[in-house]
Amino acid sequence: MNQVYLDHAATTVIRESVIEAMTAVMRDVGNASSTHTAGRRARQRVEEAREQIGEALGADPIEVIFTSGATESDNLAIKGGALARYAEDPRRRRIVVSPAEHHAVLDSARWLADERDFEITWVEVDGHGSLPPARMREALDGAESAAIATAMWANNEVGALSDIPAIAAICAGAGVPFHTDAVQAVGRVPIDFRSLGASTLAISGHKIGGPQGVGALLAQRSFKPVVQAHGGGQERRVRSGTLDVAGIVGLGVAVSEAEKEREAESDRLGGLRDELVNRLHEKIEGLKVNGYERFDAERALPGVVNLHLPGAAADAVLMLVDSEGMAISTGSACSAGVTEPSPVILAMTGDDARSRSSVRISLGRTTTPDEVDRIIAVLPDVVERARIAGG
Ligand SMILES: Cc1ncc(COP(=O)(O)O)c(C=O)c1O
Repeated sequence: MNQVYLDHAATTVIRESVIEAMTAVMRDVGNASSTHTAGRRARQRVEEAREQIGEALGADPIEVIFTSGATESDNLAIKGGALARYAEDPRRRRIVVSPAEHHAVLDSARWLADERDFEITWVEVDGHGSLPPARMREALDGAESAAIATAMWANNEVGALSDIPAIAAICAGAGVPFHTDAVQAVGRVPIDFRSLGASTLAISGHKIGGPQGVGALLAQRSFKPVVQAHGGGQERRVRSGTLDVAGIVGLGVAVSEAEKEREAESDRLGGLRDELVNRLHEKIEGLKVNGYERFDAERALPGVVNLHLPGAAADAVLMLVDSEGMAISTGSACSAGVTEPSPVILAMTGDDARSRSSVRISLGRTTTPDEVDRIIAVLPDVVERARIAGG
């Protein structure tokens, strides 16, 4: 166990209130689809969680579809949504997406292009990792051929926000269904699904102090995807499978608490983030921030900072920090223990070396000023050692 955990964007510490609520449910029996008393009790718990989530995120309860997490939500929205649009009108073959999206979105889009009759219209992020609404407007030129457009609310690697209300309005104006991956935005940015006008929005439990393996897709009533998981017809017949009642209850508590804490937590974490950056600038030569230099509620997440450490390999830095009992990350996928160059930093900067020598530090609810002091104390020496090791 790392004594200092600074990888909250990968997954964060589960809330005690969530554990308590889930434990009580797990001791009880009941399938939410059964009509007997035990089943109805389970159903009531699910519906209460649906209401909690709807209230926190400005959605009607019926617009909340429970899933196994944001990966499934993104798949359902992109693949299910695009295939349905295509079935209505085969001219709608374009998926409009940026290369800085999470793999759940990117690989859904790529699957449609590789295995079905779709093509991808890439829309580029700017140097900070935000997607300028004007670029989405350009990419929608010839909107009748677009099946779906998508943009993440907050980037998981560099913390950049995009102006999702503006982008959603552009898509609505062009008559193109819009999906947003809001996984990193919940509890950080005000979300009002009703006024947003997006067709669908993905959330995940474990990024906000809820359980792993549960999430939701907020979906307008008009969302009628090609179903991806066939079975018992649960969740508006859109997503079959016995509902994970305990997980859903935990998700409801987590979303509701994250939303209540949002403003105070953003201020607190934004302050810690800026202090971290300022002090590391003084101690690490050549350090640059990938994304926004300072926390700005309009443009960046308060708890995510991505640092370019020229001359230091990211995987070496990670290992050395780990050996000091601290957890940070690259923010991008690892395969066979080797850190891949970050596609997000590549998309932002086009600089391969930079994408291999950048690390993400992400703060969360349990982060203390002491923990920030600890990483500031350790990182400069680690970077020095990684630079020497790399020659
Ligand atoms: C932006 C973003 N989208 C999607 C996901 C996938 O979420 P889940 O772990 O719930 O499948 C993550 C988590 O890694 C994420 O950060």
